Amino acid sequence: MTDAPAIEVDGLTKKFGDFTAVDDLSLTIERGEIFGFLGPNGAGKSTTIRCILDLIRPTAGHCRVLGLDSRTDSVEIRRSLGFLPADLALYPNLTGRRTIEYLANLRGGVDMGVVDGLAERFGAELDRKVGEYSSGNRQKIGLILAFMHNPRVVVLDEPITGLDPLVQLEFHTLMREHVTAGNTVFLSSHTLSEVERVADRVGFIRSGRLVAVERMSELQEKSLRRVTLEFPAPVPASAFDGVEGVHDAVAEGNQVTARYEGAMAPLLAVATANGVLSLTTASVDLDELFLEYYREGADPEAA
Ligand SMILES: Nc1ncnc2c1ncn2[C@@H]1O[C@H](COP(=O)(O)OP(=O)(O)OP(=O)(O)O)[C@@H](O)[C@H]1O
Ligand SMILES: [Mg+2]
Repeated sequence: MTDAPAIEVDGLTKKFGDFTAVDDLSLTIERGEIFGFLGPNGAGKSTTIRCILDLIRPTAGHCRVLGLDSRTDSVEIRRSLGFLPADLALYPNLTGRRTIEYLANLRGGVDMGVVDGLAERFGAELDRKVGEYSSGNRQKIGLILAFMHNPRVVVLDEPITGLDPLVQLEFHTLMREHVTAGNTVFLSSHTLSEVERVADRVGFIRSGRLVAVERMSELQEKSLRRVTLEFPAPVPASAFDGVEGVHDAVAEGNQVTARYEGAMAPLLAVATANGVLSLTTASVDLDELFLEYYREGADPEAA
């Protein structure tokens, strides 16, 4: 168990009746990384997470946490696991502190000094009734519950929803500290911009299928740039066919716009041969790259 990955999902399929919510998904999360699990509404993120936590049973395949089987070793796994569900339900009449104490007791007790430290970092109110909380404050209680026992693996289903930017920053710092100490964080989100500053790797799920897994640093390098070229007379887009690194050239009037990656020299050679007058470039937002993954039927390899 000591060398096993933090989380392994192996050929996971989950059907609800005839509907396949997760389709033959395999994924390995290494220890010490923050992994962002991205996908649009209904993609299968929460279903995958529920299978990892043994809250629902897979139709096929299996999940392991720290080398232990999600189904047969779920009691042992729970000791080393922190979880924030997307639909956190708390007792409205208990205060935040009572809620935490109650759930900490179910775990056999936790260090309340850690709880107070987390509450202070997040600016969480612990002494009012949970039913009176703002949604952000309720989410802070959920984060304290997920981290209070210093779990080796933390699974968070849309943790950033409802947190203001300052709390988000503190939460990012906390996650980084947690993985630097050798632990692992797996979090789901709808948008790359929420996780791009914090994740080491991201996986992208659409319609129950894992369509891409990328290292964040490589994704940033891969991101395309857009170029607009101005010519003295119309130049056909086909002039850029087959030019290394150039994609999607479009001609309109005397202008050609295209996306390119890598060195600019091949593009410039064609532009110069056609007497280019001016050139502007802009980087294509990473979110735009990821929208390609969102589009149903799009070929992510072509993005
Ligand atoms: N208990 C269930 N019974 C029937 N269908 C379900 C059930 N749970 C989930 N689904 C369906 O499975 C698909 C995946 O749902 P899931 O909740 O995993 O998506 P998600 O990626 O978490 O989406 P969101 O971003 O909206 O939270 C959806 O089409 C959903 O309607
Ligand atoms: Mg969900």
